[in-house]
Amino acid sequence: MLNKDQKALLDQLLSSASPEQKIWLAGFMQGQVGLGTLGAEASASAANKPPVMIYYATETGNSKALSLNLMKSIKAAGFKVKNAAVNRLKPEDIDTKTLTIFLCSTHGEGDPPETAVPFFEKIKAASNDALKGLQYAVLGLGDKSYEIFCGAATDLDTELKRLGGEAFQETALFDVDYTAHTPKWIEETVTALNKLAGDTGAPAPALISADDHILRTGKGYTRLEPVKGIIKDTLILNDHDSNKKTYHIEVTYEDDIHYTCGDAIGIMLPNDETPRLYSIASSPSYHEGEIHMTVALATYTKEDGSIGYGIASKYLADLKEGDEISFYISQNQLFNLAPDDQDIIMVGPGTGIAPFRSFIFERSERGASGKNWLFFGDQHAHCDFLYQAEWQELLATEGLHKIDLAFSRDQEEKIYVQDRIRENADEIMTWFDNGAVFYVCGAKDPMSKDVHKTLVDIISQRKSIDNEAAEDYLAEMEEQGRYLRDVY
Ligand SMILES: Cc1cc2nc3c(=O)[nH]c(=O)nc-3n(C[C@H](O)[C@H](O)[C@H](O)COP(=O)(O)OP(=O)(O)OC[C@H]3O[C@@H](n4cnc5c(N)ncnc54)[C@H](O)[C@@H]3O)c2cc1C
Ligand SMILES: Cc1cc2nc3c(=O)[nH]c(=O)nc-3n(C[C@H](O)[C@H](O)[C@H](O)COP(=O)(O)O)c2cc1C
Repeated sequence: MLNKDQKALLDQLLSSASPEQKIWLAGFMQGQVGLGTLGAEASASAANKPPVMIYYATETGNSKALSLNLMKSIKAAGFKVKNAAVNRLKPEDIDTKTLTIFLCSTHGEGDPPETAVPFFEKIKAASNDALKGLQYAVLGLGDKSYEIFCGAATDLDTELKRLGGEAFQETALFDVDYTAHTPKWIEETVTALNKLAGDTGAPAPALISADDHILRTGKGYTRLEPVKGIIKDTLILNDHDSNKKTYHIEVTYEDDIHYTCGDAIGIMLPNDETPRLYSIASSPSYHEGEIHMTVALATYTKEDGSIGYGIASKYLADLKEGDEISFYISQNQLFNLAPDDQDIIMVGPGTGIAPFRSFIFERSERGASGKNWLFFGDQHAHCDFLYQAEWQELLATEGLHKIDLAFSRDQEEKIYVQDRIRENADEIMTWFDNGAVFYVCGAKDPMSKDVHKTLVDIISQRKSIDNEAAEDYLAEMEEQGRYLRDVY
C-alpha cells in the first residue's frame, strides 16, 4: 500500500511515538478517511473501554431507528458498539461480559413484537442464573392508551433479573412521544456506560442529527396530535349476497401530512376509546391528497341472539360523504415498498389486501420495473373479490403481473392462500433466488402462521434442507428486509 519512502517516514514516526500517541494517530486516520463518527479523542479511549451491544425488538421500526442513534452516541464516547435484532438471538448467545442494552417495543395486547416472540420464548425457558453477571439496560417503547403499557419491555427486564442480570441503569418506558425524551435518555445511558468504564468526564450531548429523524413527529403523526379528515366517498366492496361487509373509505385532508406505502391510519373514536389502526390502501403518488381504507365490519352474536358490532369498524361503516373524522398517520418503518427494480410477492387475503393496493398503484404510477405478484383470498369469487375491476385493469396494463386467487367456499374443500403458494412453489423459489421481497398482510392467526409454515415446507423441499435451516433461510430474508409481515 505504501511506497518505500512513505514506509520509512511512517516507521520513523511510529518508533518515536508513545502508546497513547499511536492510539491518537489511529483515531486521527479514521477521521481523515471519514470512517464512522469516532473522533480522535474518542478512539484514544476506545482501547480501554468495554464493548457494548445493543439489541432491538421492533415491529414498526422505531426501536431499530433509535438503536442507530444510540450506537452513534456510544461510539463517539469511545466504546466499541454493535447492534442487532433479537429475532434469532438465544440467551446463550448473549455475552455476559459485554454491556448490553435492549430496546424493546410492545405490540398486540402487551405482547413482544411478532419477530421477537421466539427470543422471548427462549428467554422465558432459560434457567435461573443463565445470564449471571450480565450488566444491562432496558428501554421500552409503548403507548399509554393500551391497557398493558410497555408489557414486553417490563417482562424482559423481569426475565433478565431472574437470569442473574443486573441493570446498570433504571429501565425507562416511553410513550408515543418518545422522540422528545430519547436525547436525554441517550445522554444518561452514555454517562452510565462511561461510569462503568471509569470515565468520569463531562457527559456529551446525544448525537441525533436531523437526518436521523426518519420518523416524522408532531401534528398528524401520533394520537396525541390528530388532524381532521373529511369523508370523500364510501362504498361496500362485497356484493349483496356476501356474508361480509367490507367498506372502501376515502378521506381527504388539508394539513400538510405525508404517508408512505405500508403506513397505517390511526382513527380516533368520538368517545375517546383507544384509536384503531387501518392499513392505508391508497398510493401517495396516484391518489394524491387522499387516504383510503379497506375496513371489514366486525360482528359478533350477542347472548340474546342479536348482532353486535365492533366499535371502530361500525363507526367507520356508518360514516357518510362530508362527515368529519380525526386521525393520524401511524408510520411503519419496516413494512416498506421495495426499490422499483425489485420483484415483490404480496399475500393479502381479506382486508390484508389494503397495503398492496397502495403498493401496486404506487409502482404502477412510478413505472417501476420490478414485477408485482399478488395472492388474494376470501370466501366467494362472485361477491368477495375485493377491488376486482382494479386488478383486472392493472393486469391489462402490466401494473400487476400475476394474481393467484383462493376463494375458500367456492368448492367443497376449503382453499386458502397458502394452498396457492404451495401450488406455485417452484416459481416462488425462482423469484426468491432473484431477490424478490415477500410480504404478508392480514390475519395474524391462523393466516400468517399457515403461510409461514408453507414457506418453511417449500423452502426445505426445494433447497433439500431441514425445517430449521429453512427457518434460518426465512430469518435471513427477514434481516435483509425481504420477508415482511404486517399482521393483526
Ligand atoms: C397495523 C394494523 C392494521 C390494520 N389494518 C386493518 C385494515 O386494513 N382493515 C381492517 O378492517 N382492520 C384492520 N386492522 C384491525 C382494526 O384495527 C380493528 O382491530 C378492527 O377493525 C376491529 O375493531 P373494532 O373496534 O371494530 O372491534 P372491537 O370493538 O375492538 O372488537 C374486536 C372484536 O371483538 C368482537 N367483539 C366486540 N365485543 C364483543 C363481545 N361483547 N362479545 C364477543 N365479541 C365481541 C368484535 O366483533 C370484533 O371482532 C388493523 C390492525 C392493525 C394493528
Ligand atoms: C397494533 C399495535 C399494538 C400495540 N400494542 C401496545 C401495547 O399493548 N402496549 C404498549 O405499551 N404499546 C403498544 N403499542 C405501541 C408501540 O409499542 C409503539 O408504537 C412503539 O413505538 C412501536 O415501536 P417499534 O416500531 O419499535 O415496534 C402498539 C402499537 C401497535 C401498532
